[in-house]
Amino acid sequence: MPHKFHPGHMARLESEERRRRQPPERLLAAIGVRPGWRLVDIGCGPGFYTLPAATLVQPGGRVLALDIEDAMLARVRERAAAAGVDNVETHRSEESHLPLPDGAVDAALVANVLHECTDRSAFLAEVRRVLVPGGRIAVVEWRKESMETGPPLAERMAEDDVRQALVDAGFTVTAALYGDTTGSTHFGLLADRP
Ligand SMILES: C[S@@+](CC[C@H](N)C(=O)[O-])C[C@H]1O[C@@H](n2cnc3c(N)ncnc32)[C@H](O)[C@@H]1O
Repeated sequence: MPHKFHPGHMARLESEERRRRQPPERLLAAIGVRPGWRLVDIGCGPGFYTLPAATLVQPGGRVLALDIEDAMLARVRERAAAAGVDNVETHRSEESHLPLPDGAVDAALVANVLHECTDRSAFLAEVRRVLVPGGRIAVVEWRKESMETGPPLAERMAEDDVRQALVDAGFTVTAALYGDTTGSTHFGLLADRP
């Protein structure tokens, strides 16, 4: 079983130091998040990407923040209320089931989550199901290298493995993101649902 991020450590996910290393707006801009979009942030944690995304989809858009941990969802609601953001919905997710109808969203963000999933192909099939045809998925993961922070090396996914998992799930990979966009510790892949 892959190790899950413990909600007791959520402060790490919303630190100023992380914001400096990985400005969330850069990733969201690379994804092409725009006004009116319905975006699902799956495994949202305390909302590091959820809250800036909620600003970028305005006017008219919504961000659906999903996590298997109620404590993470409570923190997203708390932060959204404090920021006066009213276009974020939180929903408790299940391991390989997303509580959304077919074709519910324009884009899905899966940041630092895929390596934690017990059944990656079932998870990605669910993401595909909830995207509109032509919808976009962004997967962000830790680079598979030894580092002082982040998940153990053995639990990290190589970029080629993420790419293959996306292709196997029926997505078309369109771009790879590194460096300034993801921070030097991470990489990202963008893919479209045909
Ligand atoms: C390392 S945190 C990343 C949080 C956030 N995406 C970020 O980058 O700041 C991983 C999150 O994914 C959640 N998670 C793990 N497996 C999940 C699954 N199958 N479905 C939804 N959420 C999941 C965990 O509860 C945790 O909040």
